[in-house]
This record gives sequence, C-alpha cells and structure tokens, in this order.
Amino acid sequence: MSDETKPCCSSGNGEPTATRSTAPMWIIVVTLVLLFTGGLFLDSHSGWFDKNVYAPYQSSAQLESFQPKSGAQAVLARGKGIYESVCGICHGSDGLGKPGQAPPLAGSEWVMAKGVKRLLHIPLAGVAGVIQVGGKDWNMNMAAMGAALSDDDLAAVLTYVRSSWGNKAGVVTGDDVKSVRAEIGKSPQPMSGDQMMKMPE
Ligand code: HEC
Repeated sequence: MSDETKPCCSSGNGEPTATRSTAPMWIIVVTLVLLFTGGLFLDSHSGWFDKNVYAPYQSSAQLESFQPKSGAQAVLARGKGIYESVCGICHGSDGLGKPGQAPPLAGSEWVMAKGVKRLLHIPLAGVAGVIQVGGKDWNMNMAAMGAALSDDDLAAVLTYVRSSWGNKAGVVTGDDVKSVRAEIGKSPQPMSGDQMMKMPE
C-alpha cells in the first residue's frame, strides 16, 4: 500500500518513470568557465591564423618580398625602369649599344669616369660629332635625352648605368645633377668627345 503512494519513479504498477531535476549548479559554472577561457585562448592565438598575414598571402616571408625595396636597391630599381624607357631604346637593355645607333655604355670610359661632370654633360646637353668609346670613333649625335628628367631620376639612371653590365663606378647623386645642370645653364651646347675632354672630369 505504501508503495503506491511513493511520489517518485514508480507509476504504481512497477514501471519506472522519468522525472525532471535541475542540473547541478557546478556543471553550469564549470561549463561557462570552460567556454570563457576557451574563447580567450582562441582570441589570443588568433584562431591559429597569423595576425599579420591574410589570404591570398601565405607567409610573412612572402609578404616581405612585396615590400618596397629600401635605399640603394630602390634607387637601382628606379634607375633601371627609367633607363629602359628613355635610354635603352638606343643603348640597348644590355648596355652594349647598337651598331649605327648608339655606342656601348658597358665598359665605357665616359660612364666609368671617376668624376661625373663629363658624364652628366652628355644626357643634360647632348653629344655632337666624334666621340671615342673603347678606342672606337662614333660620329653621330645624341640629343639631351636626360634634360627633361628630374635631378633624382637622372641620378638614379646614371647610378644604374655605372653599376650594371659589369660596370663598377660610384653613385651619382641628385646634388651632382643639380650642380652640373646649373653650370650648363639655360642654353645647353652639345659637345664632341674632344670638347668634353677639356672640361674637368
Ligand atoms: C636616340 C638614341 C639615344 C638615346 C635615346 C640615348 N642615347 Fe646616349 N648616345 C647616343 C649616340 C648616337 C651617342 C654617340 C653620339 C656621337 O657619336 O656624337 C650616345 C652617347 C652616349 C654616351 C657617351 C658614349 C658612351 O657610349 O659612353 C653616354 C654616356 C650616353 N649616350 C648615355 C645616355 C643616357 C644615360 C641616355 C638616357 C638618358 C641616353 N644616352 C639616351 C644615342 C642615344
């Protein structure tokens, strides 16, 4: 008789019944703490994504290779670009010159001179008449192909020319260009090789 009035777990005819009971408080607290610390962990590890590298890039080393080059490298890259579009048409992108069109810049004594005055006179004022390059006479003309370039751009071109194709000579600065440009003044006279040899190197 007392069995039949039991409140829990028995319908009275021997069958077990499910009842509800609240989840223990500690499970809720532990679950919340786990979720919270898990979130913090993922956050501080950026979900295992590199916080500096996003798709489509794969590594910081790869990204580094896309950064603008600094200092000397940047000047050479700029000089090469300008050379190829302004000078290379005649002197060749290999600096070897072209028969009947322009003498070589590779190995040229004009390019590799210690001082840069005569060298700067060439693109700033042009060349007219005979000029000896590597023991060979050229008797053509070159217009003042570099006169329209900025001081820094012409400096970059000549720095590139002086350190390419086996050439090894010092840097030309924007200030070098500025001072020779000022000496030449407003009416540049294209000169022959002999005339330029009379100027200080
Ligand atoms: C349209 C063709 C042409 C272009 C473009 C040209 N040059 Fe020349 N360059 C010549 C010719 C031709 C001579 C030889 C001139 C002569 O015989 O009087 C020469 C001579 C020279 C020389 C002296 C000789 C030597 O070979 O070292 C230098 C240096 C030179 N050029 C540099 C440049 C630079 C720098 C540029 C670009 C800013 C340039 N040239 C663009 C045709 C060109």
